[in-house]
Amino acid sequence: MRVTIVIPAFNERDNIPLIVERLEKLLPGENWEIVFVDDDSKDGSREVLMRLSREKRHVRFIRRIGRRGLASACLEGMASSDADVFAVMDCDLQHDETILPAMLRAFEEDPKLELAVGSRYTGQGGGTGDWSKARVFVSRFATRIGSIVRKTPLTDPMSGFFAIRRELFEETVRSMTGKGFKILLDIVLSAGRPLRVREFPYEFRTRQHGESKLDIVVAFEYLYLLADKMFGRFVPVRFVLYVLAGLSGLLLHLAVLGMLHKLAGTPFVTAQIAATLTAMVSNFLVNNSITFRQQRLKGGLLVPGLLAYMVICGIGAVVNVQAAEYLFESQIPWWFAGAAGALVGAVWNYAVSTQIVWTWLPGVLRKR
Ligand code: GDD
Ligand code: MN
Repeated sequence: MRVTIVIPAFNERDNIPLIVERLEKLLPGENWEIVFVDDDSKDGSREVLMRLSREKRHVRFIRRIGRRGLASACLEGMASSDADVFAVMDCDLQHDETILPAMLRAFEEDPKLELAVGSRYTGQGGGTGDWSKARVFVSRFATRIGSIVRKTPLTDPMSGFFAIRRELFEETVRSMTGKGFKILLDIVLSAGRPLRVREFPYEFRTRQHGESKLDIVVAFEYLYLLADKMFGRFVPVRFVLYVLAGLSGLLLHLAVLGMLHKLAGTPFVTAQIAATLTAMVSNFLVNNSITFRQQRLKGGLLVPGLLAYMVICGIGAVVNVQAAEYLFESQIPWWFAGAAGALVGAVWNYAVSTQIVWTWLPGVLRKR
């Protein structure tokens, strides 16, 4: 049985040689290799990886330029290998590598085994490393809500430490979202059937070098993953976020309008224009930081992005009114015509601003 150990690494210079050394001591024979997937780290990881892969036959690496993401790094590491079993573990030594030989042996002992998972929450497992109370709470909570959509019971579905048989990888790889941190959960959800799994308890360790990359963005991506698996078939999650951002804009609009017109005595039309502009700017910022988080505009791209967004939404408003008017004149009830017009406008705004504001524009402006 051939094994590839995929190790995602982002700014882990000091940890890379340590983990190689530890795995060499643990894994006998020739039938294994380590693949580091490095997202163009700026800490000198590349030099370390070059040196190790020259010196050692069972160490190689993939370098991704201009891309980030733990889950996609793991996917690409696995996709680059011809092994029968892939193991995934962190580079920072928080995962206890001494259970790895037992995890791999399990695949030889049980030819039907599909997944072996290192778990912090079963048997003798445990430990929260250097995590804060808040992080522990969020992690437990995430574990709970995750169980709503799973068909395979796992005590630690957030685990980033597991091994998977190639067949299961091939079966699920095309349905995975590849986003965020939760690749194991992504696999289990994408399989959509109960899997043959064994869990291996271990003690989560404290990180010695470098720092954690998990932040609020990652937590958000996790919710996104769950929502996508639950409703993604019916409506794109992103469109729902876009509509929610629009509703927040509507509330803001009414608040500004009320304040200017009722409290400050501004003429209605002036107040309505001010409220519309405020809501547009707010919608743009909310969408930019939430809905389009992965391709967020920053710095010098913000102002051109905002202007393009306002033009597109202006056209969207015209489309909305035209559609509503057409329906209204065809004897359709006023509220239905109005709502349908708004929906058409929202779809227009969403589709066109996705393509222009968050895809085409940043590409063109960055090239210059
Ligand atoms: N290539 C690449 N690209 N690697 C990354 C990226 C990225 O964008 N982000 C993180 N990594 C690597 C890190 O270098 C590390 O080896 C590993 O992925 C885990 O990242 P950490 O930043 O150390 O994560 P953590 O310790 O906070 O999270 C741990 O707990 C989670 C469970 O809630 C990890 O074990 C996760 O795998 C696990 O899901
Ligand atoms: Mn870590």
